[in-house]
Amino acid sequence: MIDSHAHLDSKEFDQDLNQILERCQEKNVRFVISCGTDLSSSQKNLDLSKQNPMIFAAIGVHPHETYLMDENTIEKLKKLSKEMRVIAIGETGLDYYYNFSLPEVQRKAFRVHIRLARERGLPLVIHCRNSEEDLIKILKEEKASEVGGVIHCFSGRKETALACLEFGFYLGVSGMITFKNTKDLSALFSELPMERLLVETDSPYLAPHPYRGKRNEPSYVVHTALKLAELKNLTLEKVENQTTENVENLFQLNKVNK
Ligand code: NI
Repeated sequence: MIDSHAHLDSKEFDQDLNQILERCQEKNVRFVISCGTDLSSSQKNLDLSKQNPMIFAAIGVHPHETYLMDENTIEKLKKLSKEMRVIAIGETGLDYYYNFSLPEVQRKAFRVHIRLARERGLPLVIHCRNSEEDLIKILKEEKASEVGGVIHCFSGRKETALACLEFGFYLGVSGMITFKNTKDLSALFSELPMERLLVETDSPYLAPHPYRGKRNEPSYVVHTALKLAELKNLTLEKVENQTTENVENLFQLNKVNK
């Protein structure tokens, strides 16, 4: 199994990252894709990925942080994107729920990330909250389907899910489906094709039941996979194999020099 979205650079993991990775091995979680949220976090994820063969890095500036972006940031991201263990551009996207950065600033930064992804031939790791219409519009205008990607922690409407699938994107299934109050989301995933779903934790955030409210960690992705297996009426093994294959296809992990 692969945790397709985590933030191992988070200071919450500074003390015990080795134990966390050991617990991954115990739970058959072979790889973790650790996603940058700004320049220094992207650099830290790259460093971690070089130190540990279980970790791959995605680099980018989270929509919340885009107000800090300038030409220099973009140049540095370009440089980082050439590193062997960087397998995706992100976490990028749009978040109109918090609006920590102005929508206009977020849209501009999102376009910059998509252009970089196309330039480097890397898939996108996308965050979307209360911004579905603009997100799909920009993905189309910038021809993001050329490189594809994942809408991580998908929690949007059915129409959006279908539009993203049609556009060649994958959807990230997070621990949210293990919560009691997310029956609509679970119902939606039960209808979507297994071939296009990834499982993820978004660690250290969004811990699945029975850890809700605590620090999340990549080995907990098994709880999300179990719930997905229940929804799809499949064995855990089938969900593990299919979602692993999906991650390997999307991020071309076999091409990375391990
Ligand atoms: Ni995230």
